[in-house]
Amino acid sequence: MTRRHSRIAGTGSFLPPRRVSNEELAAQLAERGVQTSDSWIVERTGIHARHFVDDGVMASDLALAAAQAALQAAGLTADAIDLIVVATSTPDMVFPSTAAIVQRKLGVAGCPAFDVQAVCTGFVYALTVADAMLANGSASRALVIGTEVFSRLLDFDDRGTCVLFGDGAGAVVLETSGEPGILATDLNADGSYADILCVPGHVAGGGILGKPLLKMDGRAVFKLAVNVLGQTARTVLDKAGLAPSDIDWLVPHQANIRIMQSTARKLHLSMDKVLVTVGEHGNTSAASIPLALDQGVRDGRIRPGHIVLLEGVGGGFTWGSVLFRA
Ligand code: ACO
Repeated sequence: MTRRHSRIAGTGSFLPPRRVSNEELAAQLAERGVQTSDSWIVERTGIHARHFVDDGVMASDLALAAAQAALQAAGLTADAIDLIVVATSTPDMVFPSTAAIVQRKLGVAGCPAFDVQAVCTGFVYALTVADAMLANGSASRALVIGTEVFSRLLDFDDRGTCVLFGDGAGAVVLETSGEPGILATDLNADGSYADILCVPGHVAGGGILGKPLLKMDGRAVFKLAVNVLGQTARTVLDKAGLAPSDIDWLVPHQANIRIMQSTARKLHLSMDKVLVTVGEHGNTSAASIPLALDQGVRDGRIRPGHIVLLEGVGGGFTWGSVLFRA
């Protein structure tokens, strides 16, 4: 049987309106006795600002707005969708899944809807799972969403982490196609690194056990990230029979400009071919790749026919790639 293919038919994204500049964040942190500065943050990370949700806004709210934008870009309404996969580490509830809540908000009951949890690699995992389900005939039009309210996990007494992250959502409509679209995928995890980037709390007996705030060994994450991003790029290119020079756009997880520069160097890619949104978005975890992708599509840099490499890395430790023709 010939394998069915899938292609991205539309992209969308949403940022909460409240933009918090480094200066504003530094001033807020100073009030609690935590010292940082715009120059430190920019120099070490490339981040100038991030967006934070207001109280009461949930991951499903951001996801809904991104999904609606992706549907509009694809020229579809929600009833055309027969699969919803949401990547998030900041779900609305313990259960049901944020995907089920998004489905309710879209007003389309019936199709399968579930969450994928692979932290900052979540969108790459979700897109890979949706591609496989379309390929095997389980669905024909999927909404794949990355959405995060990471601000709720931040320890504002830890200057090494709270300056890095932001909130947002991005989405794509993935549909079956005669021609590939998605050319190759690669997923990986190594749970032995679970402790270097984690939120070590859980719900138990009506309370929370452990500290439900993000903690990270920044240097260990940095070293590992640069290494595995080089590996997964080579793996996915090999699977598709392509070379780094075939890439029109690299859309990496937006954690830190220095990680992106190192990855580009390893692939001998000019930074002109790398979509960079970390400056204005910060690290939005599972939302960062679809947010950057949507920006590249909407501003006309990513055009039909372009070869695009999405690369994620994050807690777990997880990492992976999706290579597609736009
Ligand atoms: N402002 C000012 N000073 C700071 C800040 C801050 N926000 N944060 C740390 N410092 C200080 C430290 O206290 C330390 O001071 P000391 O030398 O007096 O002890 C000094 O800066 C250096 O600290 P390091 O942690 O060694 O700084 P480093 O150069 O490693 O940069 C950073 C830290 C930016 C976190 C870096 O390690 C990094 O980018 N790591 C990767 C993190 C990342 O991208 N994580 C996410 C990827 S996976 C995912 O997305 C979930």
